Amino acid sequence: MKNTIIAPSVLAADFANLQRDIEMINESQADWFHIDIMDGVFVPNISFGMPVLEAINKHRDTNKILDVHLMIVDPDRYIKTFSELGADILTVHYEACTHLHRTIQAIKTEGMRAGVALNPHTPVAVLEDIIQDLDLVLIMSVNPGFGGQSFIENTYNKILKLKAMIDAKEAQVIIEVDGGVNNKNAKALTEAGAAALVAGNFVFSSKNPINTIADLKEITSK
Ligand code: DX5
Ligand code: ZN
Repeated sequence: MKNTIIAPSVLAADFANLQRDIEMINESQADWFHIDIMDGVFVPNISFGMPVLEAINKHRDTNKILDVHLMIVDPDRYIKTFSELGADILTVHYEACTHLHRTIQAIKTEGMRAGVALNPHTPVAVLEDIIQDLDLVLIMSVNPGFGGQSFIENTYNKILKLKAMIDAKEAQVIIEVDGGVNNKNAKALTEAGAAALVAGNFVFSSKNPINTIADLKEITSK
């Protein structure tokens, strides 16, 4: 039986009730906290920064992984800071890194797992010569910057291609999908090869987020 990783995106939480929403994730079957950091330069939106992450880290169940997705230019400047703030996985965008290999090594030196995110237009083939150094690839299934957008169907093709690349190189890499994930596409995504699913609005806009997380877990773990 599969055990798909469910990663609620805190971007969709109610920031005036952040502690309540963090505790909801703690009590749920979610495996990871997905944290979206946006700088208003790499993406046309600004989310939240260090003080908020510090608050999240203070209240989260440390048995759950802190999965930080950086949508910022020049992420090398903040690698050490995110490690100090409790990040277990640090994911940078391929499109934001001139020296990706160096960035990945720096993330690992700080004791974190290293991920690379690909925008919808970026082919997975660009990772061919670095895949063995990665712990995770984050396939963006929307254009990064906002929650609540519609899922881009070409994502399935990208997952299949990436899975084939990972298997051919016998690499140990988690495929994570981010954007527009819901109970209609979740199972097909895991069948294509995704092992981790991020869900923001689908979880937080639902009547009972704990049940919604449990449903996602059940649908994808059969
Ligand atoms: C988008 C972010 C996502 C977002 C997902 O730029 O990276 O993590 O929060 O939200 P939904 O699930 O609502 O598309
Ligand atoms: Zn994200």
